[in-house]
Amino acid sequence: MSDPYFPQLFAKRIGGANYGKGADIYKFEKIKRAKRKVLADHPERKLLDFGIGENDEMAAASVRRVLAEEAGRPENRGYADNGILAFKEAVARLMRREFGVALDPATEVNHCIGTKSMLAMLPAALIDPGDVTLMTVPGYPVAGNHTRFYGGEVFRLPLGPENDFLPDLDSIPAEIRRRAKLLVLNYPNSPTGKTATRAFFARVIEFALANQIVVVQDAAHVMFSYDAPPLSFLQVPGAREVGVEFHSLSKGWNMIGWRIGWVCGHPLLVRALGDVKDNFDSGQFIPIQKAAVAALDDPEIPHRTCAKYRRRLEKLVAALNRCGFDCRMPGGTYFLYTRSPKAAAGQQFPTADAFSQYLIAEHSICTVPWDDAGPHLRFSVTYEAPDEAAEDVLMVETERRMKEIRPEFGGA
Ligand SMILES: Cc1ncc(COP(=O)(O)O)c(C=O)c1O
Repeated sequence: MSDPYFPQLFAKRIGGANYGKGADIYKFEKIKRAKRKVLADHPERKLLDFGIGENDEMAAASVRRVLAEEAGRPENRGYADNGILAFKEAVARLMRREFGVALDPATEVNHCIGTKSMLAMLPAALIDPGDVTLMTVPGYPVAGNHTRFYGGEVFRLPLGPENDFLPDLDSIPAEIRRRAKLLVLNYPNSPTGKTATRAFFARVIEFALANQIVVVQDAAHVMFSYDAPPLSFLQVPGAREVGVEFHSLSKGWNMIGWRIGWVCGHPLLVRALGDVKDNFDSGQFIPIQKAAVAALDDPEIPHRTCAKYRRRLEKLVAALNRCGFDCRMPGGTYFLYTRSPKAAAGQQFPTADAFSQYLIAEHSICTVPWDDAGPHLRFSVTYEAPDEAAEDVLMVETERRMKEIRPEFGGA
């Protein structure tokens, strides 16, 4: 085949004519390749997979039953546009039950095909060339990537132990504050596991009002809160005047592949995002929305899921600490984010990426490295284990291999 003429037609946002020519591979793709290689090279060694950030369980049987029933009804076959009222009403019931937040389902709630797609659409509603989105790092990059797609800039707010994994809003230069239109937060935070406090959210609201910035709080992991009851941004007085919150059924309700979530908060922002969304998609399949209603109306599901991941995290923290790590129970999420060792088994590891590659290649332990704010590893407790006994077997094996590795942290 001759060389195609169209590389020069690719948009600059994906690399222009150089698209596909770089050697850089996306972090998660690198992990997948390493995983495939070690499974082929060492089929005898069980893979300890702390890399996947996806729930290991199916959605509840009661929820799947509703999907099956509703999929057979002809009235559910069409475009759902900006969503069915029954879903918005179920969201309003959930928000009142879990957070004590009252919402008008008609104007203050809209569904989305997962929070990822809503985060991708968000900059379309607010960002013009030269505008700034403030985002915490490490973090979920989607809103930032789309900010750049629209000609905007991302100002990174590092999260580290020195600021207790909360962004230092006072450190933002005046010129950036002037151009900033959007502050994207994510608490409980992925990957650090930090949860927000009411005091922090109150400070965010003050900052947003003073600088006229819209706040979007990504609450995708909110049902996994361990150090305090789940906290919604909208619980804090004034939040609705400055922003919206994004929620997801992916994590708390084991519905990661179903693609359903919601946005709630200020009605004008909800409307603007709905208008943008109308130009991207035609709504989630109505039977999925109806099954999500059944999920939202069952308070047991997220509480049961939360209890499972809490138990797994507690076991992992204890096991890793016995191997020399200095871990603490995360405040929320199903991730443990911990400092990566500087050396192990007589080798030096300048980055978490290098250590994570060593862990998978030599010991079949899969983790996700983060080097954006100091070398850290993310362990996800979404590994497959059918019961608690199987979890314990997996933990014993993790501890055995990690002790053999002898991680060294060399002081602070
Ligand atoms: C912080 C954060 N936000 C959003 C998402 C996307 O979730 P959803 O499945 O609702 O698109 C994820 C998924 O991993 C996430 O970790």
